[in-house]
Amino acid sequence: MVPVVRPRRLRTTPAMRRLVAETTLAPRQLVLPMFVADGLDDPREISSMPGVVQHTFDSLRRAAAEAVEAGVGGLMLFGVPRTEDKDARGSGADSDDGVLNRALRLLTDDLGDATVLMADTCLDEFTDHGHCGVVDPHGRVDNDATLDRYVSMALAQARSGAHLLGPSGMMDGQVAAIRAALDEAGFADTGILAYAAKYASAFYGPFREAVGSSLEGDRRTYQQDPANRIESLREVRLDLDEGADLVMVKPAMSYLDIVRDVAEIADVPVAAYQISGEYSMITAAAERGWIDRDAAILESLTSIRRAGASIILTYWATEVAQRLG
Ligand code: PBG
Repeated sequence: MVPVVRPRRLRTTPAMRRLVAETTLAPRQLVLPMFVADGLDDPREISSMPGVVQHTFDSLRRAAAEAVEAGVGGLMLFGVPRTEDKDARGSGADSDDGVLNRALRLLTDDLGDATVLMADTCLDEFTDHGHCGVVDPHGRVDNDATLDRYVSMALAQARSGAHLLGPSGMMDGQVAAIRAALDEAGFADTGILAYAAKYASAFYGPFREAVGSSLEGDRRTYQQDPANRIESLREVRLDLDEGADLVMVKPAMSYLDIVRDVAEIADVPVAAYQISGEYSMITAAAERGWIDRDAAILESLTSIRRAGASIILTYWATEVAQRLG
């Protein structure tokens, strides 16, 4: 009789499974996205993301310290200005008094080089129309006029101490424009985490609440069509040519094929963003007792690592880092 081939032998005990695991997850690979809001007395719960808050400056500092203590690899900051401070050009984004730049300086003072401090380089939180760029008289997002705003924002963030800038607006040429401006201004060491492949996703829904977005309409003229795969390779190649130090795919879960494709062509670290909707779906199902929350979180993160991302942005970064020890 032909003997049965038995892959199950390698699954017999927890120790055996640990020995042969192909994918690892470590605290240093996790980056915590954080929201800091202007004019708050207390942290404000984001109802569509239970467990995630808009921070005050004080609570931001405490949560950042806790995350770093837990061993996370970095922090990604988003600023939420007061509604009355928003305008058509997103003036709060590059003002040194803007909420994000103030928060960056505070965390730079607190943490120095103990972590990697990252900043979202995009106008959508700061514009009254909610688009990621400036809008022309026909209501279209003006690519090249937006690049000028991104450059100014990037310089303000570099001055405020960010180690890595995360241009997330999907304007053509954004990495090259920011790189040139940083170099010229003496910020050769400030890096760029390029949102290289970013899709127009329904799963960003809860984030729009998290940043108090004013957007009406959608971002389909600048973010990618979920139907496309090859296009991501072009986007990544362009960003690498323009000087990206790391590239990111976003969202993660519905785009694991893209993460794999990008990991195969990129010769820089690849990040993936487990976005708000991914967080909220698992949280909501767990609240109803429909799935095992802790197991689902670890499985989702392991899948993103297995697909080829070496860095994961996740709202669970601190918790999971603590759990992994
Ligand atoms: C745009 C930006 C978005 C997210 C990060 N940066 C939203 C969007 O493109 O509409 C989404 C993050 C998330 O959903 O967790 N600056």
